[in-house]
Amino acid sequence: MKPNLITKITLCGLLLNGFYANAQKTNLEVNTATTVTKIQPTMYGVFFEDINFAADGGLYAEMIKNRSFEFEAPLMGWEQPNSDKHSFNTTSGIATTVKALENKTNPSFCRVLINDAKGFSMINEGFRGMGIKKDAKYNLSLKAANHNGAIKKIIIQFIDKNKKVLGETSIVPTANDWKGYNAQFTATQTEAKAQLKITFEGNGTIDLDMISLFPEDTWMNRKNGMRKDIVQLLYDMKPGFLRFPGGCIVEGRTLAQRYQWKKTVGDVEKRETLINRWNTEFTHKPAPDYFQTFGLGFFEYFQLSEDLGAQPLPILSCGMACQFNTGELVPMEELDPYVQDALDLIEFANGGTETPWGRVRSEMGHPKPFNLKYIGVGNEQWGPDYIERYKVFEKAIKAKYPKMIIVSGSGPFPEGDYFEYGMQELKKLNAEIVDEHYYKSPQWFRENATRYDSYDRKGPKIFAGEYAAQSVAIASPDNRNNWECAFSEAAFMTGLERNAEVVNLTSYAPLMAHEEAWQWTPDLLWFNNLEAYGSANYYVQKLFATNRGTDLIAITKDGKPVTGQNNLFASAVKDSNSKEVIVKLVNTSATAQEVNVDLKGTKLQTKGTIITLTSPNLQDENSFANPKKISPTEKGFNLKGDKAQTSLPPYSVTVLKLKMK
Ligand code: AHR
Repeated sequence: MKPNLITKITLCGLLLNGFYANAQKTNLEVNTATTVTKIQPTMYGVFFEDINFAADGGLYAEMIKNRSFEFEAPLMGWEQPNSDKHSFNTTSGIATTVKALENKTNPSFCRVLINDAKGFSMINEGFRGMGIKKDAKYNLSLKAANHNGAIKKIIIQFIDKNKKVLGETSIVPTANDWKGYNAQFTATQTEAKAQLKITFEGNGTIDLDMISLFPEDTWMNRKNGMRKDIVQLLYDMKPGFLRFPGGCIVEGRTLAQRYQWKKTVGDVEKRETLINRWNTEFTHKPAPDYFQTFGLGFFEYFQLSEDLGAQPLPILSCGMACQFNTGELVPMEELDPYVQDALDLIEFANGGTETPWGRVRSEMGHPKPFNLKYIGVGNEQWGPDYIERYKVFEKAIKAKYPKMIIVSGSGPFPEGDYFEYGMQELKKLNAEIVDEHYYKSPQWFRENATRYDSYDRKGPKIFAGEYAAQSVAIASPDNRNNWECAFSEAAFMTGLERNAEVVNLTSYAPLMAHEEAWQWTPDLLWFNNLEAYGSANYYVQKLFATNRGTDLIAITKDGKPVTGQNNLFASAVKDSNSKEVIVKLVNTSATAQEVNVDLKGTKLQTKGTIITLTSPNLQDENSFANPKKISPTEKGFNLKGDKAQTSLPPYSVTVLKLKMK
């Protein structure tokens, strides 16, 4: 036979096989009466890390980059177009920075010498521009010391790239010494790439610091607030927990650059700026202007958790810098301050207002405790150094707070020596919850829906704390949030759900990315300075989280769990609050599949709802131009007796919802 013919016959055979397999109905059985296990309210949560400009330039609504002149290059983000920056003989004026040594955490400020007020301006570029909306109000604040009252007025304007003014206000600086000033103004036009221009009336010297600008319309209208559109996307997911602040950012490239929560609470202007560890991590995506001002700090994360109805889940440094970078270690005999940070954090979150850290929380506006139940020790650590340090944290935390649930980590990979060693040791220590991370191919996700079927039911509970299908490879800048990745994650998530007895918390990672300033892709949400949208993966997460249920029930085919036979994956839950039975079905094949779900055990109402998430092409994605291209559609359907019959579209995630009588 000629090779061509062989190929044709084989191909034909394969197609026919596929056709017959898919043309026949698949019969599934759901036992609605028996609870297999409880689904934890924390089952589906969100993982927040300040990567991809997720905090400054993203969720945190501050619009000025380098507002307090503390970046390594202290005038980064600021232009002074008509000034000769290298000479004091400038005709128009010059802005330089000065360090006030008495101010330890925010020492630098900007000294402006104005020779010719008409010629001099300072322009802040924002985070790849500033997104402003027509008729929206913006709140500006700054601190100024006006030497000898020389400057009569500070004029503040939004401008576009042609220098057209898009809104204006002014401040009269009345004091020689440092004083705070506020002004509000309205944008006259919508513009994604606006900048803030500052000009002056009068000649002489004025010092400026903390030049800050927020939209009035932040989430819950809070000052120092968050972007409403981004929080809304999170809120709509109904996440069971919020993990913060990362990720590798917890560890730091060096110990000195680790995340220190105590430096992120209290007065915003006293919080110490730190280089973001993603600033230089990837040569393919350098971000030299990426710093952490910590305006979004631990108080704000706790508050956000509360707003979202999510359990707060802070993760702390365990005295090990990122092992992919320096791997610096705190000697065991110097670990105490790190452990104390954990104990103090619990007091900050839960302590009475009479306690030192409880008082700090109360003074920040939250006298009631945040009801912290979980705390994480280390992020992606591995090896004996981690286990040794974990033991010290565990002992100290449990001695003071026996009910606090400690999350430990199994390292960066879901298999291999680091993982095996970590898991084995943590099991010996009766660890309560172990965090696992997997950034793998979509195929891996489809093939690993049974991962937890064999996990010891008496062993540690699992936090699938960071996972995402990678269309190319981990850390590749070419990874896409495409539909194949999203439905493969859905297939895998039926496996997480079927194993809810072991898997208690799960989260996709990373959570979000700025369209122009990202370092890591894929990401659950994408935003620019004006808009934000959820990827196809977001809608998968949202479907599972908003249909979490309270009780796992069995769904089987021929008595076996549905884990990819004929490219079909399934899980089922009951919700004792909404009195619903919820069945999740994922068809990862290129053809439609007829399914017949036999629901036995409880009387159900005939009318149900079917939600479908699908797209014809594996490479399809959501985008700013078409943000809901892949998003759920909902319609009614009728049970036939005890049976739900439906056709699952090719490449689809389907949720069937039925009311119990
Ligand atoms: O999510 C991006 C990074 O991946 C996290 O910071 C880290 O924990 C993991 O390696």
